[in-house]
Amino acid sequence: MKVIIRPNASSATELTARIIAKDLRANPKLVLGLATGRTMESVYALLADMHRGNGLDFSLCRTFNLDEYVGLAADDPNSYRFFMNNMLFSRVNVDLRNTLLPNGMAADLEAEGRAYEDAIIRTGGIDLQVLGIGENGHIGFNEPLSPLSSRTRAITLTPTTLNQNAGLFAGGKASMPRRAMTMGIGTILDSRRCLLLAMGASKAQVIAQAIEGPVRSMIPASALQLHQNCVIILDQDAAAGLKAADDYKMIFENDPEWKEFRK
Ligand code: GLP
Repeated sequence: MKVIIRPNASSATELTARIIAKDLRANPKLVLGLATGRTMESVYALLADMHRGNGLDFSLCRTFNLDEYVGLAADDPNSYRFFMNNMLFSRVNVDLRNTLLPNGMAADLEAEGRAYEDAIIRTGGIDLQVLGIGENGHIGFNEPLSPLSSRTRAITLTPTTLNQNAGLFAGGKASMPRRAMTMGIGTILDSRRCLLLAMGASKAQVIAQAIEGPVRSMIPASALQLHQNCVIILDQDAAAGLKAADDYKMIFENDPEWKEFRK
């Protein structure tokens, strides 16, 4: 695991977007795992700018989103399909047929989970999985106690998640779906590279648990400690609970991998 702490939210966001763009330039057929949530909005805005201003090309890339609410159709403004179309897909030159999310409207959610896993395997697997984190440590919608080996499936959302995301629903918590489809933790760990971005003081405690605490299913993001190639990008506020923050900063300053990103 590599932990990078940036002085503020905008430099954390910018670094995340630059890493994604570098991978996409190196491999135009990149299989990109994508996340939703407020954290990602500014990342996608920067990627859209890079497309417009610098010709960042999404035409050959394929994308798999982490999750989708059960029971929300693509044209529902609260669905993650709607979010992705609005925040990224309509602003870049990706082929919409190459953008997949789990189908939360599927009649058979178990079969949908299996089909999603198969679709990922058919592309050759996810090259770069972008992640946010929930205040309870969820990645995708893998809520606490999700098996560390879990695959794409339907899960029931916890009260913490309902509270965290209620503000995004015009009808508040009462109008939110209680279930979601999510890639599993095992699915996420199969990606060749993971890139988690967390910002703000509300994430500080869970970030410290995920990075410096034990690997345990109560903190699903702690499973990323098992990944061979995982980068965590934080702003100063989200890093506030880390005991070894100074060490991570020093490593970032000296690691040749990050030379071009230190500027
Ligand atoms: C939702 C998504 C998660 C994401 C989280 C972060 O719950 N299912 O994948 O990590 O939001 O939310 P935010 O960025 O709004 O804090």
